[in-house]
Amino acid sequence: VYAGPESELPPTLAQGAETVDCEGRWITPGLIDCHTHLVHAGNRANEFEMRLAGATYEEVARAGGGIVSSVKSLRAASESELVTQSLPRLDALIAEGVTTVEVKSGYGLDLENEKKSLRAARRLGNQRPVTIRTTFLGAHALPPEAKGDKDAFIDLVAKEILPAVAAEGLADAVDGFCEGIAFSPERMARVFDAAKAAGLPVKLHADQLSNLHGAELAARYGALSADHLEYTDEAGAAAMAKAGTVATILPGAYYFIRETKKPPIGLFRQHGVKMAVATDNNPGTSPLTSLLLTMNMAATLFGLTVDECIAGVTREAARALG
Ligand code: NIG
Ligand code: FE
Repeated sequence: VYAGPESELPPTLAQGAETVDCEGRWITPGLIDCHTHLVHAGNRANEFEMRLAGATYEEVARAGGGIVSSVKSLRAASESELVTQSLPRLDALIAEGVTTVEVKSGYGLDLENEKKSLRAARRLGNQRPVTIRTTFLGAHALPPEAKGDKDAFIDLVAKEILPAVAAEGLADAVDGFCEGIAFSPERMARVFDAAKAAGLPVKLHADQLSNLHGAELAARYGALSADHLEYTDEAGAAAMAKAGTVATILPGAYYFIRETKKPPIGLFRQHGVKMAVATDNNPGTSPLTSLLLTMNMAATLFGLTVDECIAGVTREAARALG
């Protein structure tokens, strides 16, 4: 009803109102998890064991694990099964005060299964008192039927799947995975051009495992956010600041893949890049359903201040969702 200094509280509101002493606690309308892959099927606990035994993210992916193994599980699940499997994860977030959750597709990788994921995500929003923002992540990984042809797959995503998903109003934004084991900046740019043509804002999984200058690509397209960013350099941070692209910090993925390179928080601060904090909930590299723990990890692992953590799951997370 009113938020602001007590001295300016309209007297009519104060009259007869119940007073609750919060003993100095902090109050916010709700928390926002602005980067999740919450709609998925099955789990990839076996990969955690592989990584403990020394396998890298790339080695897991090349061994048929990683994102492609979740594609297999998701394709085998019905839309209703996806909703049923995803609800406990959503409920865990809601129990902590999360009121808005971004959910990406990206485990379907063909028209029907991408649409199934996005419809399941929308259904979650009807079944719980939470706002769901959907993101189309068709350019997430190369599905087996593409037989190694990344160009043909990007064509399919940009010319067929994305326009169809947009026409049905199933996506609020478009995302991609720009990395050696995924798609080059040139290929991602083709997807972003298609997003622009469809009138959808873009986001990017950028510079997570290496510096392909994904941050600059995202900035060039006026992206809402660039996410992960462990390997982003100063030029990337400067470009993001200029474009108003939010840096979404994902300590869960950093932790689970036992990455050692930290995102350049100091450069983001120096250049005035806004920072959001999110769970990156996914079955492989961040099976994490606590946004509160994520805030703690952003502080303990990356040195974010308490204020930055709070802003990262409220104001800046909102900005990262447009
Ligand atoms: O945000 N980096 C690429 N995509 C996801 C991983 C998804 C998965 O491993 O299933 C991420 O970390
Ligand atoms: Fe992600």
